[in-house]
Amino acid sequence: MKSKKHLPLAFYSALIISIGGCKPYSAVAQTTVVSSSVAAEEQMYRPNFHFTPKKGWMNDPNGMFYADGKYHLFYQHYPNGNKWGPMHWGHAVSKDLIKWEELPIAIYPDKDKYIFSGSAVVDLNNTSGLGIGGKAPIVAIYTLHDMIKEKENKIDVEQQDIAYSNDNGITWQKFEEGNPVVKNPGIRDFRDPKVTWDQTHNQWIMVLAAQDRSHFYKSKDLKNWEYLSDFGKNIGAHGGVWECPDFFEIKVQGSNETKWVLIQSLNPGGANGGSGTQYFIGDFDGTKFTLDSNFANRVGKEKAVWIDYGKDNYAGVTWNNVPNADGRRLFIGWMSNWDYAQDVPTNAWRSATTIAREIQLIKKGNDYSLVSNPVKEINKYVSKAIKAKNLKRKGKLSIAEAGKIDLTQAIIDFNLKNLKQDTYTFTLSNDKGESLAFGINNSEHYLFVDRSKSGKNDFSEKFASTITEASLDGNQKEGVFKIILDKTSIEIFYNNGEKVITEIFFSSQPFTSLSVSSNQGIELSNLVINQLNIN
Ligand code: FRU
Repeated sequence: MKSKKHLPLAFYSALIISIGGCKPYSAVAQTTVVSSSVAAEEQMYRPNFHFTPKKGWMNDPNGMFYADGKYHLFYQHYPNGNKWGPMHWGHAVSKDLIKWEELPIAIYPDKDKYIFSGSAVVDLNNTSGLGIGGKAPIVAIYTLHDMIKEKENKIDVEQQDIAYSNDNGITWQKFEEGNPVVKNPGIRDFRDPKVTWDQTHNQWIMVLAAQDRSHFYKSKDLKNWEYLSDFGKNIGAHGGVWECPDFFEIKVQGSNETKWVLIQSLNPGGANGGSGTQYFIGDFDGTKFTLDSNFANRVGKEKAVWIDYGKDNYAGVTWNNVPNADGRRLFIGWMSNWDYAQDVPTNAWRSATTIAREIQLIKKGNDYSLVSNPVKEINKYVSKAIKAKNLKRKGKLSIAEAGKIDLTQAIIDFNLKNLKQDTYTFTLSNDKGESLAFGINNSEHYLFVDRSKSGKNDFSEKFASTITEASLDGNQKEGVFKIILDKTSIEIFYNNGEKVITEIFFSSQPFTSLSVSSNQGIELSNLVINQLNIN
């Protein structure tokens, strides 16, 4: 576990109260919030449509699966406090990955034994034998983190346990008689198992984060796991501990060729500081993951390839059991960063998820890469649009004027054309003089987001002290942008999702206008600003 979560022992003992009996373990509230400030906070900072828990702390998305017409999302949750604490699995469902309904907490910790991140599978053939009445059980595989052992500075703090549900993830039984299913092998950071059915090799496959690498295991029944191999020592980014991996086979767009993708979060050491998520592309023979040679060269050159270059997309993984007829690889991340997640200026709840995204594998020449884009279901919620075909201006161009469209729930598409060696700066602004700047520096070839003037940012020195950058391959002639705006977040998908930047902000009033400027003039085409109306 990371140092920022290492709180003083006194803190933990104050929190830990035994409730007794078989009631789920819970702890005392950490913060009392006066109700008028709660209303103001809801108004200012509660996202319009990104998922947030009604109250309490949230971090990583966990255990996502699809079944019976619903996408399930679980998450690291501490319902009784607004900082990281005794970890539960919170639960939400959606029919379309956009509109979420929060359900009762799914898995509770026992005293001093926290339920850390992990995954869930729909065990269609009841390989685990945990199903009843001929229905496929849902099996969750997660890390059990022992706080007593942590305090005693033991090594074997983390092990992998399972729990199962026979009512589609609403209630869960811990598999007491068989846990742990993977014992700690003497590695302090040994967590976040992601399990998927490997159709090609006819086995369950588990990837988990083991400090500075990923470990692979296989199983026939989800209960007995055999260690296979590891990957990653001295490959890619290693600024911090590896966490929350994902591993899956995916088709190259427009062909029947498949490759294997390893998604691997780490903290710290992300693309722009703190938490970040890198990925690797290669092949898997059922035992060992081998990096594609061109991708290995790219990792050598760039040090790491990131799924998102923004500061606020961490621990993201993909859904299991999405029907073949759909065939998409669907991803969601935690829209925050351990550098400041526990200090952001909300009290009643903390953190949101990113918009759900479709991940695709593309191939250019012999080079593979992932692209991510918002799921198409978001288009259902479009209610009105501002459109313009071609706009040309010297200096500054106003794209959205105050009062014309609500920029706290919008999708904006446009192409920036005929780009020169210049900087193109987009500015979201409000009446308070606050602004968020983003754009392309096409002299030095990078995308950027600067939130230093975007409102409240004094809660952490790390929040806005550096400009976020995502490097681009050389001179850009044209930039294709898709931008999703909520009250406290911007998600930029550049060139059909080839580069993504996700960042949060806390303006004291909504941003009401958007403009763009450059020294050498602006040419913008196919502008569509769609109003979203989700709740
Ligand atoms: C990632 C992480 C995981 C861990 C969880 C605990 O943000 O540190 O590695 O399982 O959070 O809440």
